[in-house]
Amino acid sequence: MAEVVLDVQNLTKVYGERRSVDDVSFQVYAGEVFGFLGPNGAGKTTTIRMISGLAKMTAGEIFIAGHSIRKNFKKAVSCLGGIIENPEMYKYMSGYDNMRYYAGLYEGITAADIDEVVKLVKMENRIYEKVKKYSLGMRQRVGIAQSLLHRPRILILDEPTNGLDPAGIHEMRDFLKMLAHEKGYSVFISSHILTEMQLLCDRVGIIANGKLLAVKSMDEWTEALSDSANMKITVSDGEKAKAAVEEEFEIPVAANKNLLNFTIKSELIPEISVTLAKYGIAVLSMYTGEKSLEETFLELTAGAGTSIK
Ligand SMILES: Nc1ncnc2c1ncn2[C@@H]1O[C@H](COP(=O)(O)OP(=O)(O)O)[C@@H](O)[C@H]1O
Ligand SMILES: [Mg+2]
Repeated sequence: MAEVVLDVQNLTKVYGERRSVDDVSFQVYAGEVFGFLGPNGAGKTTTIRMISGLAKMTAGEIFIAGHSIRKNFKKAVSCLGGIIENPEMYKYMSGYDNMRYYAGLYEGITAADIDEVVKLVKMENRIYEKVKKYSLGMRQRVGIAQSLLHRPRILILDEPTNGLDPAGIHEMRDFLKMLAHEKGYSVFISSHILTEMQLLCDRVGIIANGKLLAVKSMDEWTEALSDSANMKITVSDGEKAKAAVEEEFEIPVAANKNLLNFTIKSELIPEISVTLAKYGIAVLSMYTGEKSLEETFLELTAGAGTSIK
């Protein structure tokens, strides 16, 4: 079993009346790319700010490489590297001089250390050029090189592909996988795009409205989100049928008079009319619509119409 590098326990952040992060718990292992997926406003950045020590936790606890953020803050954050906002860099200096400047903020970082991380992010051929000549993707890589200088265990990236072109995204994906799978770093990356996470992550936690729905491998998510169908059925008694479907299948149902609308796993479709018959309700018509993975994800995170176990 791989070592737990990031351990988040019952993490909560309250702003005023709003629970922006609500009792979130998960673990990230050494050598994996962990995706933190959720729509805008879900609570990703707030969670990352607490992990990085930039925002205070309302409740909960965070351990980085076994060190408590509350009790041993310096040790804990020394094991973490990350780019929370756009990488800070001096445009008129070369990438290399930026690295040297940044290295000077820490003790004991040698020129050999700089060369090593520059090579790791594959910037050795361009590092002496001015930053203003870099693409956003190149700037991101130098930013990552900077954050690896103090030898963290986990790299935390908040929506790093925002603004990158498809080639840049592809490059970053290969690079982050290499860092995790070949170099043993934990990589924690947030995104609001399901398909992006599918190609990159070993495991994904989905967050919506401050709550972590579940953590699954990407294969398990694909399985959970696929094979569901959008059902529109007309019945003899809408009110009674809504209550029956909600009770028996444990899913939310939207009802408009005798027309019901809900999302259900495809394998359960045959059971619908059988179940309703048991309640003495007749099914007058039934329409089944296929759903894409992305549609189901959006519906799931909007908190409407789908249940995932
Ligand atoms: N400093 C803050 N003060 C008050 N509310 C905040 C603050 N930061 C974030 N929020 C609220 O917390 C929720 C989660 O935001 P955020 O973590 O930025 O989401 P995400 O990064 O997933 O888009 C949002 O409703 C946002 O408005
Ligand atoms: Mg955010």
